[in-house]
Amino acid sequence: MIKTFCRLLILALSVAPLAWAPAAAQQGGAAEQPAPRASTGGAQTLEDILARQRGENLDDGFRREATGDPARAAGIAAQLGTLGGASDSDVFRALRYGSADVTVSARGPATDVIIQDSGMWWLELRKGPLLIWGGWLLAAMIVVVLVYLSIRGPIRIEGAKTGRSILRFSAIERFSHWLLAGSFILLGLSGLITLFGRFALIPIFGKDFFSVIALASKWIHNNVAWAFMAALVMVFVCWVVHNVPNRADLIWLAKGGGLFSKHVHPPARKFNAGQKIVFWVVIVLGISISASGLSLLFPFEMPMFAKTFEILNALGLPQLFGMGELATEMTPHEEMQYAQLWHSVVAFVFMAIIIAHIYLGSVGMEGAFESMETGEVDRQWAKEHHSLWYEEVVAEEQEAASREAPATPAE
Ligand code: HEM
Repeated sequence: MIKTFCRLLILALSVAPLAWAPAAAQQGGAAEQPAPRASTGGAQTLEDILARQRGENLDDGFRREATGDPARAAGIAAQLGTLGGASDSDVFRALRYGSADVTVSARGPATDVIIQDSGMWWLELRKGPLLIWGGWLLAAMIVVVLVYLSIRGPIRIEGAKTGRSILRFSAIERFSHWLLAGSFILLGLSGLITLFGRFALIPIFGKDFFSVIALASKWIHNNVAWAFMAALVMVFVCWVVHNVPNRADLIWLAKGGGLFSKHVHPPARKFNAGQKIVFWVVIVLGISISASGLSLLFPFEMPMFAKTFEILNALGLPQLFGMGELATEMTPHEEMQYAQLWHSVVAFVFMAIIIAHIYLGSVGMEGAFESMETGEVDRQWAKEHHSLWYEEVVAEEQEAASREAPATPAE
């Protein structure tokens, strides 16, 4: 199940930000015929148990329906008489398959689901492959950045600095960026503590102190998310016009942005093709992570995966990858499980990309950080990295100067 889930994940990542496609949701598949159950009196056989452990789809109707027969109940003779024809195991089966008549005092959606053992695949995935692959992805990105740094070194300003600066980012642009960056870093760290803490921090700090860290992380994560969403909107509004692709981007990409060779400075406007990719990745992944995050923040109130699967099925995408139709009906808990997995997968991909961005925006490129710190960059930096934008700004400056210059009196 986990293997098929990963295949589906690759599809989902490549096609839509909200798409989430675990094979666990698929019905059917190669079901192995269970062995005759007469020998167990209708209960499951060893082969049934082994098939389940192998992750095979098993028609377990024989268990789902074995939840007691009221007609076979002994009559209620006295105060301590039987309440029905169900044994403890009958009752537990009814609870597990969601057919028990449950009454709970707690209010809210899905509070009457007492057992959800169909969520075991999610638990296994969350504490196994998700942690391992996510952790490796971040580690791999750090290694890539370090290797790049050791081979290429920081990208220096090649010409002589002019000592004259030019305004690159206004105060509102810088505020939006740092709000986004600050909230992202807090969300990333608190999210990682939530996911890895139980395994990584309890052995170091013990359970008592970890509970304080975990509670603080949860509080930070739930509240800082609002700042992140607000900053995402602000960044989008500030920069969308500068991130529309143009012809110069193709040349920039063809030359690798000058990132891999010295003395190469492909022309670029305010943002080059690499930055445009970062911008759109931030917007698309930002929206997707916010949507799944809201779904987690308001449990059971914002189900979105059954709908997404429906759209994917209609587009024929899962079928294209040989995965059949995805389940379009799911329980409220399954919706939450998909939301949690999708949220984490997007977060890992997002963090990996941002690690590269942070490198280039700080130690990786001389003069870049100033643009976000003071808003100003040296003219030589602008000329080398954003020549088309620099020319535009200079032209605007000249135009403004000529407008302000006193008109020459007519002879
Ligand atoms: C300490 C962390 C960070 C540093 C040092 C940093 C630095 C920078 C700098 C210097 C720029 C402007 C580059 C230029 O002048 O052309 C920039 C732009 C940008 N930053 Fe950051 N940044 C950080 C974190 C983040 C985070 C966490 C996000 C998003 C989640 C983000 C999103 C962006 C975007 C969308 C842009 C515009 C496109 C681009 O230049 O790539 N930054 N950042």
